[in-house]
Amino acid sequence: MDKKLKVANIGMKFGMCHVEGAMKYSGAEIAALCDCNEENLRFAGERYGIPEEKWVTDYMDIVNNPDIDVVTVAIPDQQHVKVSCDLLRAGKHVLCEKPLALTREDIEEMVRVADESGAKFMVGQICRFTPAFEKAKEIIESGTLGELYFVESEYAHDYMKLCDDWRADPKRHGVIGGGCHAVDLLRWLAGDPKEVFAYGTKRLLPMVEYDDATIAIMKFDENLVGKVFVSTGCKRDYTMRTCIYGTKGTLICDNTSPTMTLFVTDEEGVVQPAQTIDIQVNNHNATKEFEVFADAIINDKPIVTDAREGAKTVAACLAIVEAATTGKIVKPDYNF
Ligand SMILES: NC(=O)c1ccc[n+]([C@@H]2O[C@H](COP(=O)([O-])OP(=O)(O)OC[C@H]3O[C@@H](n4cnc5c(N)ncnc54)[C@H](O)[C@@H]3O)[C@@H](O)[C@H]2O)c1
Repeated sequence: MDKKLKVANIGMKFGMCHVEGAMKYSGAEIAALCDCNEENLRFAGERYGIPEEKWVTDYMDIVNNPDIDVVTVAIPDQQHVKVSCDLLRAGKHVLCEKPLALTREDIEEMVRVADESGAKFMVGQICRFTPAFEKAKEIIESGTLGELYFVESEYAHDYMKLCDDWRADPKRHGVIGGGCHAVDLLRWLAGDPKEVFAYGTKRLLPMVEYDDATIAIMKFDENLVGKVFVSTGCKRDYTMRTCIYGTKGTLICDNTSPTMTLFVTDEEGVVQPAQTIDIQVNNHNATKEFEVFADAIINDKPIVTDAREGAKTVAACLAIVEAATTGKIVKPDYNF
């Protein structure tokens, strides 16, 4: 393609990793940076050497700019649907941060508008580009582990200093806001959980009304069960410890360690000594994420984490919250 994709980036905190992803992609150029906070906008603009005439504080200037092809959105979760839908209706391709949305109503709206728009929409479930998890997917698909019977992951991240107003919003339950990473990872590796049950506790974050620790158990099918643990007040470094158990082997990995551990059995079913696999630590692989998105736009390929896929992850998260609240087994509703 001769013409470079003209990219705008909205939200200049975590969203700066999208600026970096687009800058590293040879077929793209930054056409606008947007943040409603002028200080954050200036910081990012100066950091990346983007000229001031490309800085905007109102995202509608991007919606109304016909020269812009692609927009990344990294603003509080509550605004994902409104801003993404405005951009899609204007014909922009949109890469929006996870979670897709926080409510059933909003995920349905997002799927509907993405379907109608004809533009590409991707939700940034970035764990699908984390080297350790990409390797886990490859090992599972190679058959090395045999058939999976138990999968577990976690989202353990201390929000004590992170929990600003929008993260403390009761709608932004930790299972949806951050736990969606672990839920999406298990959906990617093992399929859709059909039933979930959950318990929660609230011990650590005084500023939130929702549980700050949740344990969910899941039934994928008759022979495959799983578990997700979410703690948004945990007293440890951020990580997503993940264990995949199969009939022929076991894999233990996470997103923040330089190695992963693989156990396999020999022909007689005897477990062999642990193998250590070196892994590049790249928890937020925004470069690969943007590459995959741009490639799908340029070559008109389907988006793997499209609106429907992002919606299914939120639907599973909503089911976990409902199960923890009601004390009942819940079947996630994946119909959109
Ligand atoms: N993929 C990941 O691992 C990951 C990690 C962190 C955050 N996130 C997601 O990224 C998003 C942003 O998170 P954050 O940590 O950067 O939040 P933040 O609150 O630190 O920063 C949000 C930025 O967006 C700006 N903003 C808010 N509303 C805006 C609007 N309408 N128009 C323009 N700018 C606006 C704010 O001024 C601020 O600079 C959230 O959806 C969050 O869930 C994802």
